[in-house]
Amino acid sequence: MKAERLLEEIRARLDIVDVISDYLELRRSGQNYKGLCPFHSEKTPSFMVSPDKQIYHCFGCGTGGNMVSFTMRYENLNFHEALEMLAKKAGIDLKAYRFESSNDDIKDKLLDIHKKVLDVFRENLRKTKGASLYLIERGLTEETINAFSLGYSLKEWNQITNYLKGRGFQNPVVLQSGIVSAGTKSNYDVFRDRIIFPIFNLQNDVVGFGGRVMDNSEPKYLNSPDTILFKKGETLYGLSHAKEGIRKEGHAVVVEGYFDVLTCHQNGINNTVAPLGTALTSSHLQKIKRFTNKVFLVFDGDYAGRSAARRSLGMLIEQGLSPKILVLPEKEDPDSFIRNKGATAFKGLLAGSGSPVDFVLNTSEKDRTGAVHEAVEFISRASDLLMKEELILELSEKTGFRESVIREELKRLSRKIREKAGRPAAPAVPVQPLIYDEEILLLSASIAFPERVPYILKIVGLHEFRSPAVRRIMEELSAIGTGETMDSLMPHLDREEEMLVTRLTLHPGFDLEIADKNIDDCIRKVSSRKFDERRRELEMSGDPELLNALLLEKRKMLKEAR
Ligand code: GTP
Ligand code: MN
Repeated sequence: MKAERLLEEIRARLDIVDVISDYLELRRSGQNYKGLCPFHSEKTPSFMVSPDKQIYHCFGCGTGGNMVSFTMRYENLNFHEALEMLAKKAGIDLKAYRFESSNDDIKDKLLDIHKKVLDVFRENLRKTKGASLYLIERGLTEETINAFSLGYSLKEWNQITNYLKGRGFQNPVVLQSGIVSAGTKSNYDVFRDRIIFPIFNLQNDVVGFGGRVMDNSEPKYLNSPDTILFKKGETLYGLSHAKEGIRKEGHAVVVEGYFDVLTCHQNGINNTVAPLGTALTSSHLQKIKRFTNKVFLVFDGDYAGRSAARRSLGMLIEQGLSPKILVLPEKEDPDSFIRNKGATAFKGLLAGSGSPVDFVLNTSEKDRTGAVHEAVEFISRASDLLMKEELILELSEKTGFRESVIREELKRLSRKIREKAGRPAAPAVPVQPLIYDEEILLLSASIAFPERVPYILKIVGLHEFRSPAVRRIMEELSAIGTGETMDSLMPHLDREEEMLVTRLTLHPGFDLEIADKNIDDCIRKVSSRKFDERRRELEMSGDPELLNALLLEKRKMLKEAR
């Protein structure tokens, strides 16, 4: 209930065109706006936004919905989180709308714990000379330390444990935060005597911590365990700080460590992020994809760095992201390189970073033909056809092998892979063409003119719709009442239903000018079906009286539908 009121208020204050324009470029196209779909890779825009209807739909991949479902999909949020994010954008005070579900409750408590504990860590840093000194020695400025809210955890077993207890937080939720651990006798602090790097989600809430020792003890780094707020394998350090920079620069720089991120940002390379000590995962790439599809990967020059680069590159290409790669001289990482040689030198290296083809050719341990084979294998993984094409041309140019030979080799390779898998390659699934039969047309008219729904349903019963999706949407349409906008329907629909609604909104499939005539034609067709079925049954049973009654009834129905 509260969510619905909140949704109403958000709708009154925000326009879907503005909301979506925060993420991608939209251009006016007639009554609507058009842009490149953020949910699949395309080169010509098929993503439409309707300011009238406050919905969007992509005719390329079929995705569609209202501003809430857009935000959910783009930001990877659940319904409530998306509402909260939009509410923030709209400047609505959320306190009046607190959601009550228990999971949200725990989440709120955990967020609160993280926020409060961060304040303690920051205060510790201010009071601990040694810790501040360490950060200064590592070249960080006051400004960076504040911008990234760095902190320090005391060399004690229970500062945080006692602090949280004192604030009245109960044991289960305290342990769930991962900041405090259960010992045999009593709880104790997980982070002790470490520099603290808070980890923020995209809404700028602290959701976890990383901690580094200040000497050579082990482990060098420690991260919060996975919680309901935080998944290490999906989180990129620095993304909340970098997202603006990534948008502005048009690409992201992915480095390996915490200090690399901090030093890069401090030196104006503020589109830099890092995984949390794990290899890049496809979840990481999904996160980056929201802001750009160009990624610069920076790796250490040692063997481990090179093979990590190779794995990551393959994954990027598979996901349609366009990679550049920079392998640093051995024993250097971005942090040390910038401190030794300066930011300008580092930016120079970035600007000159190589394509995946260069990288494979230069780092292959095989002979020339072997290296080309490796490159072909790489190229075969590209999901984006244009990118594949570019890579083929580049490989041909750089090795002198004719394009046709490379293409032949690619074909042979994909045959081999298919044979190995033991079945023909599945064709990509294009969006199914929509058959505008009478049910779809009736639905389409109902979406365009919700005020006609009662009339339609008076003649055609819900149970007479054969398509379950049409039936469900008609049911919801009749439930929301006429005063409502179309996008208030969305939260009630599943994915398939939502796609159908947005698609029909933008492509109704009939001339809206003569909608009433269309509606009546379709009502007649749908209703006749049931009479025809029953007549067939009656003819078989051969009861003339019943048959007559049926024909009368049908005539009456047809008259009613004008
Ligand atoms: P500095 O020595 O502080 O410059 O760190 P670094 O980032 O250069 O260290 P390194 O190249 O060794 O590690 C890169 C990243 O891997 C770090 O930023 C951490 O995220 C992660 N990492 C390194 N050591 C550990 C460890 O012992 N445990 C865990 N969990 N992560 C680590
Ligand atoms: Mn380092």
